Amino acid sequence: MKLKINKVNYEGEGLTSINGKTTFVKGAFLGEEVEARLIQENKRYDVYETIELISSPLKRVKSFCKIDSKCGGCSFAGLQYHEGLRMKELGLNDLFKHNGFDVNVRIHENINELGYRNKIKLHVCDGVLGYYGENTHNFVSLDDNCYIASSEIQEVISLWNSNILSDGEVTIRSNNKGELLIIFNSSDKPVIDSLKHNKNIEGIVWNNKCIYLNDYFYEERNGLKYMVHYDAFFQVNPYISNEIVKFVLNNVSSNDIIYDLYCGVGFFSLELARFVKEVIGIEEVENAIRDAKENAGINNLFNTKFYVGRVEDVIPDLKIKGNKVLVDPPRSGLHQSVIDTLNNNDFERIIYVSCNPLTLVRDLKKLSKYELKSIDAFDMFSYSSHMECVAILERVL
Ligand SMILES: C[S@@+](CC[C@H](N)C(=O)[O-])C[C@H]1O[C@@H](n2cnc3c(N)ncnc32)[C@H](O)[C@@H]1O
Repeated sequence: MKLKINKVNYEGEGLTSINGKTTFVKGAFLGEEVEARLIQENKRYDVYETIELISSPLKRVKSFCKIDSKCGGCSFAGLQYHEGLRMKELGLNDLFKHNGFDVNVRIHENINELGYRNKIKLHVCDGVLGYYGENTHNFVSLDDNCYIASSEIQEVISLWNSNILSDGEVTIRSNNKGELLIIFNSSDKPVIDSLKHNKNIEGIVWNNKCIYLNDYFYEERNGLKYMVHYDAFFQVNPYISNEIVKFVLNNVSSNDIIYDLYCGVGFFSLELARFVKEVIGIEEVENAIRDAKENAGINNLFNTKFYVGRVEDVIPDLKIKGNKVLVDPPRSGLHQSVIDTLNNNDFERIIYVSCNPLTLVRDLKKLSKYELKSIDAFDMFSYSSHMECVAILERVL
């Protein structure tokens, strides 16, 4: 069927309507005319897939990846970088306006459009590396490489051989020095002899056990050093996370006592601790909090306290004494009891860092005691449909 795209959503998917029914069109963007076929029929909406591009007002380019339409990762690989970013901006603005927030999202571009990711998780099927297709368990072999990964990760992929592991998962992480941590999850033990030739390997972990060298490595950013265990989160895009840090620091002052909720290994906590009076971090992963405490010591930042546990369990028991809060939750957003704690206390400002605009919008609506001042979107995951948003909220009531 021939379709004309008249809107984009916050994930950059093309939208149109057929006989009044909302229709998502994969692989098509604003203003384009495509030949498409139905791939999913639902009560409230249908999903089509582009078979052929008929006309486009956009800057289309040859994709850098052979499997972008199958793995569901880089849905914008067929558009020139800034054109894709414009689509994401339109979609985000529409989402916030549609939900009653009168803000213009400020966009911050990525200077490293490719090679920006310091962590990727791959599936291994019959010795071959690949991803699962979007929302499926259909294995999509890499065939080539993953060009959004750092060059050191790409090197591991290009030297991969099927003797290492036949089935399971492998996560490859790199740091600012190009050192690597490789993490396997599989029923069979991986054969790691060939990997040991790589002089950048800092450690290999299999099913949560260290099987070579260490189960952590170090990251360095802005003169701060972080120990990062294999299972602890660390920001995946070094350039963009530094831009976010600069933005966050512009929203604090030297007398502040700040909660860093969902603090990981203390990435924001330590950056903040250099400028503010005190930082209190909370995080559920034990290794991450162990790292955060270690990192405070390594960097001589003793105006920090870290608590392990789920934020929703820990924060109601703390005697609240901070004046500002930074939250950086997982994609699921804030637990209702965290929202309640924020509404029931007199924080001057909340800095909400979010990797999921849908849960961000949901939570902004619930944070009824605060007014939304601004939203900045950082292109942390270039060519994919994702964006890292930072919302600034201030107490009104
Ligand atoms: C997006 S990461 C942010 C980490 C940190 N702010 C940083 O910049 O490195 C979210 C973090 O929240 C942690 N987490 C997830 N659910 C949690 C919960 N209910 N309570 C506490 N921490 C949680 C994860 O382990 C992860 O470290």
